Amino acid sequence: MDEGGRAPGEVPQDLPLDELSVVFGSLGRALLCLDESFCVVHASKSFDLLVAEGVAERLVGRPAGQILGEGLFGRDGTLRRALEAGERREGWGATLEVEGHKPRLVSISCAPLLHTSGTRCDPRVAYLTVLRPSEESQSIGAGAPTLFASLMARSPSMLKIFQLIENLEESDATVLITGESGTGKELIARAIHVHSRRRSAKFVPVNCGAIPDQLLESELFGHVRGAFTGAVRDREGRFQLAAGGTLFLDEVGDLPLHLQVKLLRVLQERTYERVGESSSRRSDARIIAATNADLRQACADGTFREDLFYRLRVVPIEVPPLRQRREDIEPLARHLLERVGGRYGRSLRLAPDAVRAMLGHWWPGNVRELENALEFSLAVCRGDTIHASDLPPEISAEPRSRQAEPPAAPGPSAGVDGEESAEAAALRAVLDANGWRRQDAAAALGISRTTLWRRMRELGLARQSAR
Ligand SMILES: Nc1ncnc2c1ncn2[C@@H]1O[C@H](COP(=O)(O)OP(=O)(O)OP(=O)(O)O)[C@@H](O)[C@H]1O
Ligand SMILES: [Mg+2]
Repeated sequence: MDEGGRAPGEVPQDLPLDELSVVFGSLGRALLCLDESFCVVHASKSFDLLVAEGVAERLVGRPAGQILGEGLFGRDGTLRRALEAGERREGWGATLEVEGHKPRLVSISCAPLLHTSGTRCDPRVAYLTVLRPSEESQSIGAGAPTLFASLMARSPSMLKIFQLIENLEESDATVLITGESGTGKELIARAIHVHSRRRSAKFVPVNCGAIPDQLLESELFGHVRGAFTGAVRDREGRFQLAAGGTLFLDEVGDLPLHLQVKLLRVLQERTYERVGESSSRRSDARIIAATNADLRQACADGTFREDLFYRLRVVPIEVPPLRQRREDIEPLARHLLERVGGRYGRSLRLAPDAVRAMLGHWWPGNVRELENALEFSLAVCRGDTIHASDLPPEISAEPRSRQAEPPAAPGPSAGVDGEESAEAAALRAVLDANGWRRQDAAAALGISRTTLWRRMRELGLARQSAR
């Protein structure tokens, strides 16, 4: 026994964690005490109220990343980095996930525990994290970055999408996600799946635009042996693979008309046939579709069936372009920098001038462009702080006047509402910076060459391009 009356090896428990638990519980908060390696040393009893009976005990020993998201507490997690640097963070949004229970959106504050000499606290505790359910307060969104199933945001428009995804938890409704290239449509589709009752079954993505027409049908519905030359054995389609789970139809606008009819039938009657087979099969896959094309226009043009359009958009989700949610740029940049830096074992900071340049950029390639820009900066930055001069030229070199308000370009690129022309100006800046090489400009924007070419044509920039 030592002077505190403890047996050797017994953990000093002078900081009455259980009593602290009661205090936090009374305040409607849950407390997690973490050790140096970000594993839970203590979880307050309030977790039992927040999630379910017995959960507090089950959390002990678990890495915080598993419970609150690797993006925040994993090896390169944003909050982990801050805590390791001795910093405190308040009011961040996160998703609390405990196996077997539905994920909950929570607001968290965390800080390193200062062990001053004389305090009698469990010496294993290095960090404190306090959680509260998000619905209790409107504070999420009031300037606090929120990480929701690997999506980072703080704009009201994105937080509304997070809330919608939470509300859809019990639903199997078909969802249509629309938005420009690189806005995070696929991540949102995955988040919907993870937050649904289907989370333990498969999420099966199919890019309808990337598979040749003649293969797409068998890819989706499967085929039987001998159905066509080369069909040497029976093959399961993606609908089958996604049984009990979610089928993600990306670029659904590229689906050829004859397959649109078949998809409509699955949505209406839940049945389909394999290629070369006459008997019908049932499908219970939940459908989420996404597109960056204007499907209303496609309906008007006769390239997309209107009845299918309405069947798909039972729950429509429109993801705004990054330039319309500028408050997301900074937290996204920091989050992505940690993710990208982590891949190279580097930890970099963003200088204020870099953040300013990013806030001023038009981001025609949205979050993917931001990710690429950070990857570029990481490659050229010698020190540990990224400055504006380390950003790709189209971001760092944009004149402030244009950043604030892109000029209305003359000619066909001047759109009806001014937005088009602003986009055209931004796109022209990227093309200028890349010597009008479409391959390079597309890479800088993180979009495909065909998407770039389509936008250039739509904005009247195509004629100026030689390549
Ligand atoms: N809110 C976000 N938080 C973190 N990362 C994001 C976010 N939004 C997008 N990303 C990242 O940006 C990239 C593009 O996202 P995603 O592939 O989901 O976009 P998309 O809308 O499907 O684009 P496309 O139409 O070109 O297919 C991905 O690397 C994704 O991880
Ligand atoms: Mg996508």
